[in-house]
Amino acid sequence: MTQAQQNNQNIAALLLEQRRYPPSADFAAQANAGEGFYDQDPDTFWENEGRNRLSWFTPFTTLKQWDPPFAKWYLGGKINACYNCVDRHVENGLGAKVAYHWEGENPADRLTITYADLQQRVVKAANAFKHLGIGKGTHVGIYMGMVPELPVTMLALTRIGAPFTVVFGGFSADSLGGRLNDMQCEHLITQDGAWRRGKPNPLKPIADEAMAMAPSVKSCVVLRRAGNEVAMTDGRDHWWSDLVDGQSDDAAACPCEPMDSEDLLFLMYSSGTTGKPKGVVHTTAGYLCGTATTHHYIFDIKPETVYWCAADIGWITGHSYIVFGPLVNAATSVMYESTPDYPDKDRWWDIIERYKVTVLYCAPTAIRTHMKWGPEYAHKHDLSSLKVLGSVGEPINPEAWVWYRDHIGGGRTPVVDTWWQTENGMILVSPLPGLTTLKPGSATKPFIGVQAAVFDNDGKEIPPGEGAGFMVVKGPWPAMLRGLYNDEARYRDVYWSRFENTYLAGDGARVDEDGDFWLMGRIDDVMNVSGHRLSTIEIESALVDHPEVAEAAVTARSDAITGQAVVAYVILKGGKDGSPEKSAELREHVAKVIGPIAKPANIVFTPELPKTRSGKIMRRLLKDVAENRTLGDTTTLADASVVDEIAQRAKLEADKEG
Ligand code: WTA
Repeated sequence: MTQAQQNNQNIAALLLEQRRYPPSADFAAQANAGEGFYDQDPDTFWENEGRNRLSWFTPFTTLKQWDPPFAKWYLGGKINACYNCVDRHVENGLGAKVAYHWEGENPADRLTITYADLQQRVVKAANAFKHLGIGKGTHVGIYMGMVPELPVTMLALTRIGAPFTVVFGGFSADSLGGRLNDMQCEHLITQDGAWRRGKPNPLKPIADEAMAMAPSVKSCVVLRRAGNEVAMTDGRDHWWSDLVDGQSDDAAACPCEPMDSEDLLFLMYSSGTTGKPKGVVHTTAGYLCGTATTHHYIFDIKPETVYWCAADIGWITGHSYIVFGPLVNAATSVMYESTPDYPDKDRWWDIIERYKVTVLYCAPTAIRTHMKWGPEYAHKHDLSSLKVLGSVGEPINPEAWVWYRDHIGGGRTPVVDTWWQTENGMILVSPLPGLTTLKPGSATKPFIGVQAAVFDNDGKEIPPGEGAGFMVVKGPWPAMLRGLYNDEARYRDVYWSRFENTYLAGDGARVDEDGDFWLMGRIDDVMNVSGHRLSTIEIESALVDHPEVAEAAVTARSDAITGQAVVAYVILKGGKDGSPEKSAELREHVAKVIGPIAKPANIVFTPELPKTRSGKIMRRLLKDVAENRTLGDTTTLADASVVDEIAQRAKLEADKEG
């Protein structure tokens, strides 16, 4: 039996076992969502959530307006995100409740931040930002690691009505500079460096390079965290402590700015199918309501819940499910600064045991990494506090799902596989713990009011059980993107041009006989490496940007741990041959241009690329080569021998890798 047949057989066996996973009767009885949850009228549901879950300065008058492809939600309302996340909880007597158990990379570095502490920190930061001239409508960039000052900065900015963009700390100076320019940010908040496995990972030096390309940035605030040496530019750069520490923490003297429901809250840049990242627009009320509502039901949040989303705030998962959703719900969260293997591979399980975490939300890549390390690290700790486990960012293979439930969840906990995207803002497809019958590998059912479907090529809905097609959403949902920043044409083109008035997600999917959704990965030139979205074209342009590269084509192959891995085929100028040194140099070059997350796992040097007679690179064939598959149809190739040559070289490269 081949490996592939064996895998299929294993998966089939797992699926047969799926009925092992009904909601347990105990759990169902106390879960937030009960029988009849899905029978509610969606508009009434979202109307009630909007009125009851959020606090308004002026209540909204109209639930939604749908003028495809543009949606507005909770029209006519005045609201402030920071007020909903922080101040009202203190006013309601929850000041002593823990908002974040923050844990630094050094296990001795711990902070307990209550809602009252959070309010004081946010007010001080907001006063400092005002002092710099930041106010309603000022655009601000944020480039920080997982420190408490990151959510504090986001909240302080929303308090005074300043939209921001957080750029993940692993991005390069070019990526940061490009985003600062695109949003025309006037200020940047950063830190000296972030801790990574005992060493400072410099951020301010990268921010300096980025600011050199972004003339709109007038001032930069720098938090001291890792102690690495940084240059400070007089008149532009300020230490966080100089600016913030002496400010007043009197909340009444620094009120929350009333914002329109549809005012810009933040931009999140995301890789698309062309080189330039897209500025995904999220506005205030719909985003807050969508994230907080899904957070409440899908993670079954209770007053006593200790919730941990082990993502990075630099991505949408962190925005929606570390910052805004949990804080609107006055939840207690864990926030951790660094990697799962520092100082040892049981760091996560140690954290869960110490804080008695009840909900863990992480990416399949992390689960597969823990699988590779072995369950003994988890078994050393008491994980019996866990009640719900969540997964996000990539398809979760049934083996990983079952391992997660058995070894981390002690065979007791529901696993909620949540499907959504940067553009969606909130989870769109997910089981509800205690209610939905779970299936390892399936995200199961659309959330209330989410009109998800699978379309065929002609835009006809594929009925349950009848095959795979395009994942689409037929109407608006509260936290959906409101557009791409300054690029209406691209917004229409990317998401709304394939099918009429229907959102194209870019994923393949199928719905089974029970109406459960199975997400099958990207159908476009977007790759998903460790749950990070990367664009093939972006990496190709980074490679071609190197002075010695003539041409490059990038594709993904599957990888047991990271889901997918980047494979680059490169032609060097002047017909030069590649070498391991050149390969290392090109990988570093990609890290410099985009960020270390985009480094190709393999580089195959080749004298030619397979092209059609019209000169288009046939990525499909390169993918076959990368995956070691029999080659697909090569009849449209200009020169069919090219692929054999590349396959030979790819094999040599793979053998070298061992
Ligand atoms: C993939 C992350 C299968 C998908 C929140 C999507 C998933 C892309 C799942 C969005 C899941 C996310 N099952 N695939 N549960 N969750 N994806 O924008 O391909 O970083 O299009 O948002 O991740 O990635 P993004």
